Amino acid sequence: MTDHYAVIGHPIAHSKSPVIHAAFARQTGQDLEYGRLLGALDDFAGDVRRFLESGGLGLNVTVPFKEQAWALADERSARAELAGAVNTLIRLDDGRLRGENTDGVGLVRDLTDNHGFDFAGARVLMLGAGGAARGVLQPLLGTGLARLVIANRTASKALELARLGRALGPVEGCGFDGLAGERFDLIIHATSAGLADAVPAIPDDCLAPDGWTYDMLYGDRPTPFCRWGSEHGAARVLDGLGMLIEQAAESFWLWRGVRPETGPVIASLRRPASLSSPPPT
Ligand SMILES: NC(=O)c1ccc[n+]([C@@H]2O[C@H](COP(=O)([O-])OP(=O)(O)OC[C@H]3O[C@@H](n4cnc5c(N)ncnc54)[C@H](OP(=O)(O)O)[C@@H]3O)[C@@H](O)[C@H]2O)c1
Repeated sequence: MTDHYAVIGHPIAHSKSPVIHAAFARQTGQDLEYGRLLGALDDFAGDVRRFLESGGLGLNVTVPFKEQAWALADERSARAELAGAVNTLIRLDDGRLRGENTDGVGLVRDLTDNHGFDFAGARVLMLGAGGAARGVLQPLLGTGLARLVIANRTASKALELARLGRALGPVEGCGFDGLAGERFDLIIHATSAGLADAVPAIPDDCLAPDGWTYDMLYGDRPTPFCRWGSEHGAARVLDGLGMLIEQAAESFWLWRGVRPETGPVIASLRRPASLSSPPPT
């Protein structure tokens, strides 16, 4: 019998998750269907309940429901607990719901397994202190990095996030002005500035000579922060497509107990910019 999963969000039409999970299912021979659910803004819990009652086994949860999914879960993993947000709901055998957050694992795995970044002793800067930054905090602090600085436009939110993570590793918070004179081996961009074609106002010289940049945002063309990385001499400039596929793989593994190979799926979704650009006029 075919098992049912879906991604729920609002909006949802743009989500690549159905394509990713269909590729994982084909590759691993798992008999499942994975759909899109447009969640009602005022009835997330009702939508989840109806999906489960119709036989659904699990959901991915995206904007703006991750915090509501956290509240709805009957039990949560430690990383979801700290994230304050759930992107994966798992229906347990006894009918209860387990909440997980796979975003941070996805980020770390993309950087280490797919691109070979060595976190040991690294000085890492994370820009942003919203849901995306909070969601990856625990896995990041588990990498063996030497120092994590969280910098945010509203400094108080960075200080608060650093306070939450302090028991787990070496993390500090500040505003962008607190970055003067600092150098980082990796800068992770986790703000939503890119959606407005902007980049955070950080010092031009805060990337170390062999430093890398990673934008959680992705697109057919280089994102504004990827352009910042290229313009500021980054040794590697990465966007968040690999993170998206790695977090999906972790969800797939939690649901099915099978780990898909992500490389071919990343390659199939990575289209050269020229293919998606409008023709020259
Ligand atoms: N690749 C993936 O799998 C993946 C997964 C999750 C999220 N993401 C991406 O991560 C990004 C952030 O999402 P989120 O959920 O964290 O959003 P959010 O909770 O709304 O937080 C937004 C963050 O961006 C900052 N910000 C917004 N505009 C800014 C600007 N012009 N300059 C500087 N900082 C600015 C905010 O600072 P203030 O606190 O000062 O307002 C805040 O820290 C989005 O682009 C999302 O697509 C990617």
